[in-house]
Parts: sequence; C-alpha cells; structure tokens
Amino acid sequence: MRLTVNGRDHDVDAAPDTALLHVLRNDLALNGPKYGCGLGECGACTVLIGGVAARSCVIPIEGCTGRDILTLEGLGTRERPDAVQQAFIDEQAAQCGYCLNGMIMGTKALLATNPHPTEAEILQALRYNLCRCGAHVEIVRAAMRAAGHVLEARDCWPRPSRSTDRFRSFALQAPAATAHSRPSSASPPTVR
Ligand code: FES
Ligand code: FES
Repeated sequence: MRLTVNGRDHDVDAAPDTALLHVLRNDLALNGPKYGCGLGECGACTVLIGGVAARSCVIPIEGCTGRDILTLEGLGTRERPDAVQQAFIDEQAAQCGYCLNGMIMGTKALLATNPHPTEAEILQALRYNLCRCGAHVEIVRAAMRAAGHVLEARDCWPRPSRSTDRFRSFALQAPAATAHSRPSSASPPTVR
C-alpha cells in the first residue's frame, strides 16, 4: 500500500486495516505522533491528512492512500523550526512534552483555515487535545503567539533556569536514521 508522508511516497507492507499511527511509528520511524489513548480521544497521535487534523491511532491506512499526510517531522527542522514550533519553544509550552505533537499539529490545522484566530477559537480547536501535565496556560499562549497575538509579559518569564533545548526536543522530532520493522499488527506500537 502506498502512502505519501511529508512529501515522500512510501510502499508499506501492512494490512489495510492497520492504524496509520502504527505504520508511521513502527514502519517509517516517524515518532512525532505519539501513542496516548489509542482510542481517538487524547489527540497525542494527531497528523494532518489533506490539511485536516486527524487522529492517526484510529484511522486505517486504507483510508489514507492518495492523500497527503503531514507529521510533526514534516514541519520545520531543528535549525529552522516552523513558526508554530518556534512559538511553543518560545513559550516553553510543555512539561513532559507528550501532548505537544497534538497541540502543535492541531494549531497548524487551525491556522491553515483561520490565520488569526481569537483565544476562544483556539480553545475551541484544541478542546479535545488533552494535556495530563496541566500545561494548558503555556500551550494556549503558544498557540496565541503562533496566531500573531501580542502577549503581555508574564512574571518570571522566560524562566531562566529552563533550557530552551529541552523544549526544542519536544517541539521538533528528528526522524530516526532507519525504520524499524513492524512486529505484527497485534503488537502495541513502540512508545518513546
Ligand atoms: S492516541 Fe490517538 S487520540 Fe489518543
Ligand atoms: S506537557 Fe505532559 S501531557 Fe502535556
């Protein structure tokens, strides 16, 4: 089955009903999308399919052929982050960083159709993206910054003790050098 991911075609040897997330992570070594709930409820696995935010843990690959799939790896690079990634880095918008893929990809999808959303529109767009760490204030600020809002400085901001590199690693996922083989469709995906 042929998938077009981040502008490249990949011939994938997997059952048609295999979840896209499993193929991205285990066959194509694209670990930006995360396995959270596996039920389409948390948003950690979000990718863009045809420019629309989609939960890759519940989408079979047979529904993705002939469509452009964009993952976190397809945005910016470590040297040149995408504007949304840079906004999340600047706002230090994470604690563990696990939800960040979904937050960034959800923000990308929103800005593609609404380049200057209000705070209420951002909250609406990200309302089903869950953050277990409670980093919502920073995440919404990052989305606001990405949308071009001028933000008031916060007390003790930026936090001098927190390394920007840590946030870079959350917001940017470098593709691994080689793809892993997928153990079997019944096996859970590898989680990093
Ligand atoms: S892992 Fe896909 S929505 Fe939670
Ligand atoms: S920063 Fe940990 S889940 Fe959001």
